[in-house]
Amino acid sequence: MHHLRWAAAIFVCAALAACGTPARQAPGTVPLAPVPPGPGSASNGESVYQADCMSCHGAGAKGGLPVGAVTSADIRWSTLSSMNPPYTDDLLRRAILQGLDQTGKPLDGTMPRWQGRLTTSQVDDLIAYLHTLP
Ligand code: HEC
Repeated sequence: MHHLRWAAAIFVCAALAACGTPARQAPGTVPLAPVPPGPGSASNGESVYQADCMSCHGAGAKGGLPVGAVTSADIRWSTLSSMNPPYTDDLLRRAILQGLDQTGKPLDGTMPRWQGRLTTSQVDDLIAYLHTLP
């Protein structure tokens, strides 16, 4: 009958809107807002970057290199996160896997779609690496 207690706890929390305060959270319960999965490995991500991205996006991911008729993008986190609207990790993941920019618009076809070519953890690692770039 654990789930009944859970349901009651969630209901009380919602009613009081006080779940964010650790003092009110019953010991042994999971937090209501799940903690996002831990970041990937930036050092693994650097290897993936060098193997799969650097030829177009350049050393340090600063972009600006000619690729066909277009120019590769600056994909340092400092740049992506200050765009308007800014990239989030999830939007960056989508850009890498599906070739959509942060607004949902398709990127130029010269940017490969990496879905099926990189594993989930390789993408997490890449994102962690891009976060480290000034
Ligand atoms: C064959 C060349 C090429 C390779 C390899 C490549 N990219 Fe790209 N990428 C591009 C180009 C060109 C653009 C810009 C597309 C546009 O302007 O629409 C781009 C755009 C992007 C964007 C969108 C940036 C923005 O301004 O919205 C991201 C993110 C990105 N690439 C990440 C990666 C990652 C990560 C890798 C390696 C897994 C990678 N790219 C490999 C050519 C490449």
